[in-house]
Amino acid sequence: MTTKKILEPGEEKPVSKRARSTKLRRKLTRFVALGFALVVVGMLYSAFAPTPQTAQAQGDPALVRQGQKLYEDSCISCHGANLEGVKDRGPSLIGIGSAAVYFQTSTGRMPAQMQQAQNERKPAFLKPDEIAAVSAYVQAHGGGPQLPAEHGEALVGDNPAAGGDLFRLNCASCHNFTGRGGALSSGKYAPTLDGVTEEEIYAAMLTGPQNMPKFSDRQLTPDEKKNIIAYVKSVTDGNNNPGGNPIGGLGPVPEGMIVWIVGIAAVIGVTLWIGAKA
Ligand code: HEC
Ligand code: HEC
Repeated sequence: MTTKKILEPGEEKPVSKRARSTKLRRKLTRFVALGFALVVVGMLYSAFAPTPQTAQAQGDPALVRQGQKLYEDSCISCHGANLEGVKDRGPSLIGIGSAAVYFQTSTGRMPAQMQQAQNERKPAFLKPDEIAAVSAYVQAHGGGPQLPAEHGEALVGDNPAAGGDLFRLNCASCHNFTGRGGALSSGKYAPTLDGVTEEEIYAAMLTGPQNMPKFSDRQLTPDEKKNIIAYVKSVTDGNNNPGGNPIGGLGPVPEGMIVWIVGIAAVIGVTLWIGAKA
């Protein structure tokens, strides 16, 4: 005779060994299925993820080795044997990214000659292929922001007017409305943007050299950066004629003001002259 156990409130029904093992098997199957799905997603991602050309080129071990040699010749004294930086000489370059190296070397700021408040733009010391090599070497140490694969004209957006709005909002406070540059505190200055290449403007925004803020792709999308470049190109390199009296590119309001003041003075002058004649 079997006695049926009466369940107390809150007590669970006893589970048979068999039920327990099917439960376990089901759990295991689910686990394996999840693992399989993850592997498939991972494989699909690596197959379809856009890998920028530059990133591939920069992983090239021969290029990295060449970059290391150049680094040891001209950068190591200030940035350290392992890019860790040297106190009172130069900052760490770990994770700084190839875009920063590109900016600093192509504008001739690096290799720096001596300690000074600000390293000036000058003709590049390294040749383009050497810049690519040193950039690859630094990129191999901690990654960091990279330039897009496009060059030159491809970096010029098709909406310079929108770029102008963004420039006035984000850049004009330091670089002036038409990119003429201007003084900052402690003997530092924002340079003029005349003669700066598309790649250098992009790299400057991406890496924020010295006192300049960084504009990551979240703050200014690549398209917005390209429109800013289009605007900068439209007001520099001899294209700088936005109308009005330039007075150092102070902006449309003071420039318009001159026309207004001169115009009003002329009108008053003519009125007085007519009054005197009558
Ligand atoms: C005489 C010392 C000196 C030498 C040589 C030198 N640097 Fe620099 N580097 C500096 C200093 C100082 C700074 C910080 C500059 C600043 O804030 O304006 C700097 C900044 C940089 C930056 C920007 C870091 C950042 O935070 O954005 C990069 C990139 C860089 N150097 C790369 C190089 C490379 C590449 C070389 C060799 C080709 C080199 N430097 C050689 C002193 C030096
Ligand atoms: C807070 C002031 C400040 C703001 C805002 C600023 N910059 Fe700069 N910018 C600087 C300074 C300072 C330098 C010089 C850095 C150096 O010498 O290492 C510079 C350098 C540059 C250069 C390199 C010029 C050269 O001579 O090689 C470019 C290009 C540039 N900025 C573009 C921009 C753009 C575009 C914006 C807006 C999206 C912007 N900057 C916003 C201060 C600023």
